[in-house]
Amino acid sequence: MIETIATTPFEGQRPGTSGLRKKTLLFQQKNYVENFVQSIFDCLEGFEGSTLVVGGDGRFFNREAIQIVIKIALANGFGRILVGQGGLLSTPAASNVIRQYGAFGGIVLSASHNPGGPHGDVGIKYNVANGGPAPEKVTEAVFARTKEIKQYRILNAPDLDLDRLQTLRFGAATVEIIDPVSDYAALMQKLFDFDRIAALFKSGFRLQFDAMSAVTGPYAARIFEEFLGAAPGSVLNATPLPDFGGHHPDPNLVHAKHLYDLAMTSDGPDLCAASDGDGDRNLIIGRGRFVTPSDSLALIAANAHLAPGYAGGIKGVARSMPTSRAADKVAEKLKIPLFETPTGWKFFGNLLDAGMATICGEESAGTGSDHVREKDGLWAVLMWLNILAARGESVDAIVTKHWAEYGRNYYARHDYEEVESDGANALIDALRAALPSLKGKQYGDLRIAGADDFSYHDPVDGSDSAHQGLRIHFEDGGRIVYRLSGTGTAGATLRVYIERFEPDPTRQQIETATALADLITLSNEIAGIAKFTGRAAPSVIT
Ligand code: G6P
Ligand code: ZN
Repeated sequence: MIETIATTPFEGQRPGTSGLRKKTLLFQQKNYVENFVQSIFDCLEGFEGSTLVVGGDGRFFNREAIQIVIKIALANGFGRILVGQGGLLSTPAASNVIRQYGAFGGIVLSASHNPGGPHGDVGIKYNVANGGPAPEKVTEAVFARTKEIKQYRILNAPDLDLDRLQTLRFGAATVEIIDPVSDYAALMQKLFDFDRIAALFKSGFRLQFDAMSAVTGPYAARIFEEFLGAAPGSVLNATPLPDFGGHHPDPNLVHAKHLYDLAMTSDGPDLCAASDGDGDRNLIIGRGRFVTPSDSLALIAANAHLAPGYAGGIKGVARSMPTSRAADKVAEKLKIPLFETPTGWKFFGNLLDAGMATICGEESAGTGSDHVREKDGLWAVLMWLNILAARGESVDAIVTKHWAEYGRNYYARHDYEEVESDGANALIDALRAALPSLKGKQYGDLRIAGADDFSYHDPVDGSDSAHQGLRIHFEDGGRIVYRLSGTGTAGATLRVYIERFEPDPTRQQIETATALADLITLSNEIAGIAKFTGRAAPSVIT
């Protein structure tokens, strides 16, 4: 029976870059999920009888939220709901299911790499028919709706059994509990040379993949161990846990330091890798060699033709502005366009839909292609395995040769986390005002070639996005970029991205901190970081 329930608005239900992401305690309030989901449906048109995909990263409160989403979707007239078994669907797998089944859209329950549990975070994101995150005009309309909502429609029914693969009927509508892994694994099989990768494992190649007790466990176990024959135990922490085992499911050098340490031992695995809570980020470390996400993008662009799904070549490469310009060198050589977009995967959607770009990547550990409309952690690992299998060389050898051919972009990101918002904004305002006067300034050996406030003109829909980061270019090819994070939840996070180009192969094996030392000092001096933030050093360096 469908019921209409009266409700009142909650404050602050504004979706950010990746949906509505808040503390679990807020989400647990009565009607919090109901209001938001009804607001999404109130802003959509023409979905009567069509398909909705529902799944999440398996964190605490996901199951409860999914029950609510399904019941509201049925009450609002969706005809077919596809739900991942156990409520699980990684973000890239959800994107694939939406595309493959021609769904109207999907609701993904995920707070990505944020910790889970009663004191962690929960998130809800709406994706549209191309499988990508809803554009800003949709999320803004949803936010406006959340401020006015007076009632929601919900099916009054007992909770559904999400754990058995089955089709449940509700009048003319169906809810299908689907295997979250099989469609995604089949897609990967089409893109990559599984026989060749299997032969690599057979020859003794060792992989250590850490699923971080998050959603990629079942995907990684099936694909790496079952299909490709990686040794049992190649996938660590393969069971998704509601609190991620108390860990922070962010595959960076801080939260996955154990993998780094393992990869740096002389008899360590050939490849160490990890993904985040919802499976869209990746970490790649070969024995003795960490690959920065920016270098990984460039290397993947240069070698993608070795994978069957990309054998015909790639049409273009897109990277977010702060991502190093290593990929630009590859695009130049391949004579294909390079697109520089603002931070945020959503800016790649139009380029992918229009067939202008094939491979995309961000410095924030996201890499992917036109196979779905989200970044894809396991895809990146499989791409690396395919490249390693095809070239028969180590990660270190491939990276070193790449630098010798294209030059090395030394790169580091310095984060000043949870600084006071007023100070961070004042720093950006002051630097923005100073930009015109910076050109031609000399600091030791370094001379500023130009400085600007990055804005993006979308070549597909013609939209403009201004104030996407402050860039300072040096005459020797170096660059410093400043921007405030769009994903932080407390105070402000200042991100400073530092990059220097080194074409000389005899100077490409220097410690990154040493190679960038003068630019790092200058990054403080030019922007007055200590003065505005009160911080003498960054809280995280990646
Ligand atoms: C999320 C987005 C990415 C973005 C990253 C960092 O993961 O999906 O597209 O690059 O956050 O964003 P931030 O604004 O915190 O630098
Ligand atoms: Zn994520």
